[in-house]
Amino acid sequence: MKYIPFGNTQVSSIGVGTMRIAGMTPEQADTFVRAALAEGINFFDHADIYGGGRSEEIFGTVLAKDPALRDKMFIQSKCAIHDGMYDFSKDYILQSVDGILSRLKTDHLDALLLHRPDVLMEPEEVGEAFAQLKSSGKVLQFGVSNMNRWQMELLESGCGEKLQANQMQLSIAHAPMIDEGINVNTAFDGAAVRTAGVLEYCRMHDMVLETWSPLQKGFFGGVFLNDSEYSELNEYMDTLAEEYQVPKDTIAYAWILRLPAKMQVITGTTDPSRLHNAALAADITLTRKQWYELYKAAGRRLP
Ligand SMILES: NC(=O)c1ccc[n+]([C@@H]2O[C@H](COP(=O)([O-])OP(=O)(O)OC[C@H]3O[C@@H](n4cnc5c(N)ncnc54)[C@H](OP(=O)(O)O)[C@@H]3O)[C@@H](O)[C@H]2O)c1
Repeated sequence: MKYIPFGNTQVSSIGVGTMRIAGMTPEQADTFVRAALAEGINFFDHADIYGGGRSEEIFGTVLAKDPALRDKMFIQSKCAIHDGMYDFSKDYILQSVDGILSRLKTDHLDALLLHRPDVLMEPEEVGEAFAQLKSSGKVLQFGVSNMNRWQMELLESGCGEKLQANQMQLSIAHAPMIDEGINVNTAFDGAAVRTAGVLEYCRMHDMVLETWSPLQKGFFGGVFLNDSEYSELNEYMDTLAEEYQVPKDTIAYAWILRLPAKMQVITGTTDPSRLHNAALAADITLTRKQWYELYKAAGRRLP
């Protein structure tokens, strides 16, 4: 496993996403969490809305049974989505964190991310919530998710906290933040500015770029592995999987980790054996040629 700095601590470059674990039994959750730790994965990504809170609850059963596991983990959760809106108000953030801590059966979060940008945000008000959470020891570090460069700058300018991470959707089949950089100043569709340079911003500001849905096409459009819509991509992935002697999904994760930022893959698998496939990616460095060939095999062209 490879580890990267997240503010003042170290996290695995593969993180476990818990969006799909709500249906696990406590025994299955225990096996799953221990399998992740055995792979060297110390990073667990939650959100107050996953399974309506059930994902955090089931994870909490694992910690309740063996509290010593907590010290081996970096636990992150997210808030801001509720009742059909996005909400960065101080009261909501504070109340959400209390709910998260009680469901997870822990006294602190290693990081809290704001899940989706609230257009009505007041950075200073968010700062008040962050300061209270930090001084009470409930949250150690902060970040955001699904924000473009300007939203991060705005929030950071008034909230008084360094944002340590941004969690964005990225896969070989969904890569607007890459497309916009490659197609600058062309009239091609890929030139559309959808993130305003999040990749470059995160590099310049030493932020972890966490990537969600690493195997999905579109917006929760299903996995692109073995999808006939992506036959050229799958063929080339098979070739690379053979060359590196790894499963095919490993190549998809390695494509993300090859980017020259503090990259982190948040896998959504619920299968302990597939956690191993993700972990293998931390040891692979695709060549520049292979990286570009994968990018193009997903149906894109270079200008
Ligand atoms: N910030 C945000 O707005 C946001 C949004 C969405 C998600 N997230 C985070 O990102 C995490 C990952 O998202 P995701 O679950 O969409 O990611 P994903 O890893 O792209 O998709 C997971 C799905 O892929 C399947 N899968 C994994 N390996 C496979 C393989 N080799 N062949 C076929 N299917 C395979 C999994 O099934 P199995 O379980 O059977 O392996 C699961 O159904 C979430 O858990 C959450 O923590 C964040």
